[in-house]
Amino acid sequence: MVALIVAVAAAVSVYIFIYYNFLKGVKCKSDVSLNGRTVIVTGANTGIGKETALDMARRGARVVLACRSKDRAEAARFSRREDKTSNNQVVFMHLDLASLKSVRAFAETFLKSEPQLHILINNAGKTEDGFSMGVGVNHFGHFLLTNLLLERLKQCVPSRVVVLASETYRMVGLDFSKLSRTEPGHTNGFLDYAHSKLCNVLFARELSNRLEGTNVTCYSVHPGEHSITLCGHQPAPIPAPRAGPGLSRFTLQYTPQGGAQTSIHCAVQEGIERFSGRYFSDCRVREVVAHARDDAVARKLWEFSERMVGLSAD
Ligand SMILES: NC(=O)c1ccc[n+]([C@@H]2O[C@H](COP(=O)([O-])OP(=O)(O)OC[C@H]3O[C@@H](n4cnc5c(N)ncnc54)[C@H](OP(=O)(O)O)[C@@H]3O)[C@@H](O)[C@H]2O)c1
Repeated sequence: MVALIVAVAAAVSVYIFIYYNFLKGVKCKSDVSLNGRTVIVTGANTGIGKETALDMARRGARVVLACRSKDRAEAARFSRREDKTSNNQVVFMHLDLASLKSVRAFAETFLKSEPQLHILINNAGKTEDGFSMGVGVNHFGHFLLTNLLLERLKQCVPSRVVVLASETYRMVGLDFSKLSRTEPGHTNGFLDYAHSKLCNVLFARELSNRLEGTNVTCYSVHPGEHSITLCGHQPAPIPAPRAGPGLSRFTLQYTPQGGAQTSIHCAVQEGIERFSGRYFSDCRVREVVAHARDDAVARKLWEFSERMVGLSAD
């Protein structure tokens, strides 16, 4: 009997240790109001983007849902009403990041109709198989979008850019020959995804260098609050690695609400401006591996991207 009690106590202790050190996500603690502020969230109709947009709306912001499907964005707006946010300043604008023409059209419409922009959240990406449409959508589309909106962000300081990256950035080095072969909309699977996420981290770094002294700051983000959930009991789960053999009925999952916390933190938390250009996860700044903090590579990627999206003549 004593042995059983000791075993149970040990198991509970181990669980508590693992839960608090590895699984429990961190929530954004800021209660900052965004009344009078304008926010763009790309890919805001589902997942992390939808939860981020909902939080911005709850804080009173005017929120532009930058999505490629009006129907899906409208459905997201309706579910926002079900959540009883009183904010009716949530609008849809069409944006397909796989098309540079669409990015330019979005920017033109936005700049004509919206006098202000305080927070740009470059969230869209990822396909149904868990990987992205690659560098085209995840990097080049957002690169062009950010550049076209930069003057407006500078006019509305303090303002911020949040770039959704991922821990997968660690798995690859930057290969410019692959970047030039990547067509918008093309997918090369997981490595392509990891590559695009490394571009996201380097982009935020170089953007911050270029914006020094302007009061526009930017952050790259790995989203995610981990939770152990029974398979099939989680509404709209976002797949993450399985917990392991013997635990096959349990999976490690990101909830969209949990996944949105670090984006929200980087969008609203006061006092993080000195970390502009840095990488965040679990609402904390993190060190990135050496190849993701190489300023020369970040600058080269910027110049390369300018040529790819037609922002520079050469
Ligand atoms: N979830 C995770 O576990 C995880 C982990 C690390 C990083 N991330 C990053 O976090 C971000 C959000 O992830 P998520 O899990 O919330 O993704 P998700 O649920 O798959 O949602 C992706 C969103 O991006 C939109 N999108 C895709 N292609 C687009 C395009 N060409 N133009 C405009 N919008 C487009 C989708 O619109 P449609 O509905 O029209 O397809 C959707 O709104 C992504 O950048 C992802 O790489 C996620």
